[in-house]
Amino acid sequence: MKYTIAVIPGDGIGPEVTEQAKKALNAVADVYDHTFIYKEAIMGACAIDATGNPLPNETLKVCSASDAILFGAIGHPKYDNDPTAKVRPEQGLLRLRKELGLFCNVRPVKAYEQLIDNSPLKREIIEGTDISIYRELTGGIYFGIKELSDDGQIAFDGCSYTVEEIERIAHLAFKEAQTRRKKLTLIDKANVLETSRLWRKTVTALANQYPDVALDFLFVDNAAMQMILNPKQFDVILTENLFGDIISDEASVIGGSIGLLASASVGKENALFEPIHGSFPQATGKNIANPLASILSAAMLLNHLGLHKEANAIERAVQKSLSLEITTEDLNKTHPFTTSKVGDFIADYIENQDDSILNFKNIHMGQSTII
Ligand code: IPM
Ligand code: MG
Repeated sequence: MKYTIAVIPGDGIGPEVTEQAKKALNAVADVYDHTFIYKEAIMGACAIDATGNPLPNETLKVCSASDAILFGAIGHPKYDNDPTAKVRPEQGLLRLRKELGLFCNVRPVKAYEQLIDNSPLKREIIEGTDISIYRELTGGIYFGIKELSDDGQIAFDGCSYTVEEIERIAHLAFKEAQTRRKKLTLIDKANVLETSRLWRKTVTALANQYPDVALDFLFVDNAAMQMILNPKQFDVILTENLFGDIISDEASVIGGSIGLLASASVGKENALFEPIHGSFPQATGKNIANPLASILSAAMLLNHLGLHKEANAIERAVQKSLSLEITTEDLNKTHPFTTSKVGDFIADYIENQDDSILNFKNIHMGQSTII
């Protein structure tokens, strides 16, 4: 089959990790006889530098005409440290999510057996953790009215949600729970926030359409604690935009590295796939960033296109790279591989599958001796 994939490498390490995801996709295309047509576009700080706009219209066009979007990372320190900047790289991503209606952000969190001892959390706490976070992505405080008084003394960020916005993602989260361990936890702050009370009421009302799913609720502060105390209690988590942003970064610690967490942002017409990590400016251009989150995002992209065995081939290759410790320095302190070598290994394993044991003898020749 033939698919058009919009590729937005973005800022910082984005281009380096996206390149590895493309290697994995090319290997899949080769083995399973597909054609992926990549349409590259710019967004973020690089787009501001080139055009003054973090999301040029051309990028939006390329994305809406694609079968799926593969995105790298966004952000640059020159904007982070300047609260007066009128135009920011992140606005590009936020506008893209909004314009394409990518309301449902899915972030799987798993404790990989090979990495359990990398996590600062104890093995017995995280072993067996498998969570799917459903984060609402186009509403809430991210997109509310923002104001700064003329004298600069008062700032305001409004937060609103409609029943419709809550229902459409809640249905997807319930359905996901049905295919898993049949538990859905709504994370909110219903003891304080009106929007959270609407979430609770709306989600509770939907629950009778999914009688096989056990629904429970947690306040976000307690949820943040439970995520570290006993993450195994979670199956599917449903939450609003800001809480989902925070909880998913916290949850990434369970996986041993934020460099492993992939995500899908799905709407009615379009879907975007990206690592949850940022642009990691300190590592830019050094060939040391972990490409696995980007590669796993490519696997989520394939699943979205219905190419499940292809996605599985990528996931197996990632498992193999973890088992053989063909990983970057965040996961492999003693003998790290470079970003591109990890990508080469993954592509090679997809191409050769079980036969690639023959190549393992040589892979250590590619190991970095610089770091
Ligand atoms: C994420 C990121 C974004 C967000 C930033 C880059 C705007 O942190 O995807 O989690 O806050 O949603
Ligand atoms: Mg975030």
